[in-house]
Amino acid sequence: LSIDASPSSAKRISKAMFGISFEEINHAGAGGLWAELVNNSGFEAGGENIPSNIYPWTVLGDASQLIVSTDRSSCFERNKVALKMKVLCDSQGANICPNGGVGVYNPGFWGMNIKQGKAYRVIMYVRSLQPVDISISLRSADGSQILATSNIVSSEVTTWTKTEVMLEASGSDPNSRLQLTTTRKGVIWLDQVSAMPVETVKGHGFRNDLYQMLSDLKPGFIRFPGGSFVDGGWLRNSFNWKATVGPWEERPGHFNDVWGYWTDDRLGLFEFLQLAEDLGAMPIWVFNNGVGPNDEVNTSRISPFVQEILDGIEFSRGDSNSTWGSVRAAMGHPQPFDLRYVAIGNQDCGRFNYRGNYRKFYNAIKSAYPDIQVVSNCDGSTRPLDHPADFYDIHVYGDANSVFGAAHMFDNAIRKGPKAFVSEYAVTGNNAGRGNLLSALAQAGFLIGLERNSDVVEMASNAPLFVNDNDRSFNPDAIVFDSSRVYGTPCYYMQQFFRESNGATLLNSTINPSSLAASAVLWRSPQNGRIYLRIKVVNMGSNMVNLKILTDKLDLDVDTTDPANGGSTKTVMTATSLMDENSFNQPNKVFPVKSSLKGIVGKNMVVPISPY
Ligand code: AHR
Repeated sequence: LSIDASPSSAKRISKAMFGISFEEINHAGAGGLWAELVNNSGFEAGGENIPSNIYPWTVLGDASQLIVSTDRSSCFERNKVALKMKVLCDSQGANICPNGGVGVYNPGFWGMNIKQGKAYRVIMYVRSLQPVDISISLRSADGSQILATSNIVSSEVTTWTKTEVMLEASGSDPNSRLQLTTTRKGVIWLDQVSAMPVETVKGHGFRNDLYQMLSDLKPGFIRFPGGSFVDGGWLRNSFNWKATVGPWEERPGHFNDVWGYWTDDRLGLFEFLQLAEDLGAMPIWVFNNGVGPNDEVNTSRISPFVQEILDGIEFSRGDSNSTWGSVRAAMGHPQPFDLRYVAIGNQDCGRFNYRGNYRKFYNAIKSAYPDIQVVSNCDGSTRPLDHPADFYDIHVYGDANSVFGAAHMFDNAIRKGPKAFVSEYAVTGNNAGRGNLLSALAQAGFLIGLERNSDVVEMASNAPLFVNDNDRSFNPDAIVFDSSRVYGTPCYYMQQFFRESNGATLLNSTINPSSLAASAVLWRSPQNGRIYLRIKVVNMGSNMVNLKILTDKLDLDVDTTDPANGGSTKTVMTATSLMDENSFNQPNKVFPVKSSLKGIVGKNMVVPISPY
């Protein structure tokens, strides 16, 4: 590997080169990053062909004790469905309620993670013509063990009344449920039931452990909310931002028909922008432009859809006195969010109305917000685009060999005009498993290729980011979790090797043979201000390589401090076999292991690089 550090051949890598792409897929948000424990808060969940249902709420009591149904009597205009419990039993008389009462329970998203000593805020809306006495409890999965309990006793709830209790858990169980029961005869309506841990990231509602995984990647940007989720299978199920903002109780929710589950849309446009701000990452909002896999809006009728997006931009960054900026301000963020990038559609270039619609959106956005950078779905790497854009979006999926080979896909790309945004890349298929060392290696080789082409590639992100282990719609993924646990796949740790490349200086380098990929960057540590030479090498071959590294025009200050303080180190993604994967039981089976390079580093050094 020959590294030439002459300034004339060096390139500046974009500050937001490596980021993350968040999609509501695999229960990444609902039942994932968003800390809400109740699944189907408003009893509205529906499917493609089902109007609404209360799943996974479950009834406690038989037909002689309780009749549960839904009606459309809620006080919330956009989500009218409410739960109606007609309680036939009582604490006295002929029909005595069973011990513990009758009612409903919610198991959350494959169990609620309740932890001893932690506080949980339970909110729900109640109505009844009689006085109510409702017992609220957090319990083990089978209901036998009570972890926390409180009561709502009220003599006057004849109109919808918001009730709130704080529960402190006396025990722990990652598989708990929320139970609402009564032993009093009468009719009770319930709606919008929420149970949130009090401790979330900055009180913003993000699950701490999952957020930490994102933060550790130091993402330069966050693309949201998808992926295919943006368009939906049918346009009526696309991500409609206006239905995702304002008080959570008033959000209608929608069926994520691409990935097959209901979302209450608690993670809405505001929360995504807040997440970006908390992470210090540039938000990139991907919106639907009136086309999808099954239906399209003709360009001649697209104006109202364009206005929706202009309103969304005003919501995101408009003055707090503006129509939509005031909605954001009322949600607690008077300052504008730093939205400077939007993407028009996801994988939509081939659709009939895409280009026509795109132009309408592009022109309207640029005329109202000239500084906003617009991403097109059409590939501008080999042929100039037939429409204006600041970036073109490219998705790279394939087996390990093809993704490793794709490191060269931009070597001969057009250097003028819009830059590339590789917003989704992954090794998929049989040899990827659920994310193994092989796929991480291939992806690292690919990213090295992007770094080497960072004059034309501006941003890149892996996809999907998250998977709830109970809903594996798309494999592999970077971060795996369930209600209480989380681990990174090798691809996750691979991405950590690139986090210092954002804003770094790429040095010109050459490497042989072709089974190796390498790049060299100069990176300034914000902690100590020193500049580090970071060399990344991928050995896709099955042989050990003694890599001779020659550095030219670099004044290396080697081994002057110990590794803990930033001396010369080597970090190796370590595993016992190429197909090794991480798991809840072995989260660090494939893991970056750091050691000292003391005594090896110099102007001409030889570093042993293991096979794979
Ligand atoms: O990343 C998973 C899916 O793959 C995305 O939703 C879509 O854009 C791509 O086809």
